[in-house]
Amino acid sequence: MSRPGHGVAMRIALIGTGRIGAFHAGVLARHPEVGQLVVADADAARAAEVAALTGATATATVAEALAGADAVVIASATAAHAGLIAAAARAGLPAFCEKPVALDVPGTLEALGAVEAAGTELQLGFMRRFDAGYRNARELVRSGRLGRLHTVRAVTSDPAPPPAAYLPLSGGLYRDCLVHDFDIVRWVTGREVTEVYAMGSDAGPAMFRAAGDIDTAAVVLTLDDGTLATATAARCNGAGYDVRLELAGEYDQFAVGLDDRTPLTSAEPHGPGRPDKPWTGFLERFAPAYEAELDAFVRLVRGEAANPCDGRDALHALRIAEACEVSRRERRVVPLAEIPGAAGREG
Ligand SMILES: NC(=O)c1ccc[n+]([C@@H]2O[C@H](COP(=O)([O-])OP(=O)(O)OC[C@H]3O[C@@H](n4cnc5c(N)ncnc54)[C@H](O)[C@@H]3O)[C@@H](O)[C@H]2O)c1
Repeated sequence: MSRPGHGVAMRIALIGTGRIGAFHAGVLARHPEVGQLVVADADAARAAEVAALTGATATATVAEALAGADAVVIASATAAHAGLIAAAARAGLPAFCEKPVALDVPGTLEALGAVEAAGTELQLGFMRRFDAGYRNARELVRSGRLGRLHTVRAVTSDPAPPPAAYLPLSGGLYRDCLVHDFDIVRWVTGREVTEVYAMGSDAGPAMFRAAGDIDTAAVVLTLDDGTLATATAARCNGAGYDVRLELAGEYDQFAVGLDDRTPLTSAEPHGPGRPDKPWTGFLERFAPAYEAELDAFVRLVRGEAANPCDGRDALHALRIAEACEVSRRERRVVPLAEIPGAAGREG
């Protein structure tokens, strides 16, 4: 893998210019070390629109975008991730890819195998690792201020569902949405999930039932030191975008995502009232984190920093999501050891 020289502005290819890709295009276009941004999308008009907004160059094909690039940012629809990761690896290019690598373990292992064989880097888009609150929480756990951690509560509630067309391609609520919570619980606590029990409900809008998906989920995760974690997700949370992580220990408890914009109103007569400006969505809530993760990627491409979130992290989070699918389907506790792909191998 060759690296752009220090002080030389790099050329980045961005593949996929939909909701998140358009946001990443803006971040990359503003980055002082990105000299040239080239964008491509299966929908050429979409790529042209984003190029016009950001000053990027749109190309007709992915191959044209990759030619001459120093690195690749993949923000296409999920089904194209694994193929694009492999194409970047074959071209010897470091890649940043939105979650997930693939919707199943074999597809994930194949893409990670291509990266390993090429000796390139793959950074995954678990942006919560770059959010100030989650970073503080990780330090608090390590500092011992909570004492023994006994309970972790992760919450991800979206104010409105994604477009109906997104659902059949998303992999479902556990893989698409709760995968962020699975990653961040591992990262903040430094523990591994050993078993899960997952439930889900499709009692909301009919489009979830039509896609074979659920709109609300509740999961119990057992960590390898016995700590219990719960993770809930909801696609139709009218109060706003609510992403929190609560950590309770023997000495103290802390919450990430608890501020004057948290869309949670106390039912107590004198408790905190309704926020004036509740968080509206991921692009607003996590804007600084998206910027920081791409800055980290630029530094990784330069060889100035280690990979903050690699393919093995994506595999761990996906295996937890897969265990949730099995658990919900079979209505039982599922040990992670049952899910293929442990230690990066099938079996
Ligand atoms: N980290 C996060 O917070 C976060 C948030 C939203 C989405 N995502 C992930 O980002 C990805 C994109 O999600 P989105 O909401 O932007 O979806 P989207 O549907 O808005 O955009 C996807 C884009 O990819 C394009 N595309 C599809 N196949 C392609 C291919 N083979 N080559 C080039 N372009 C292709 C589509 O034309 C579309 O413009 C998904 O994998 C999703 O899981 C992550």
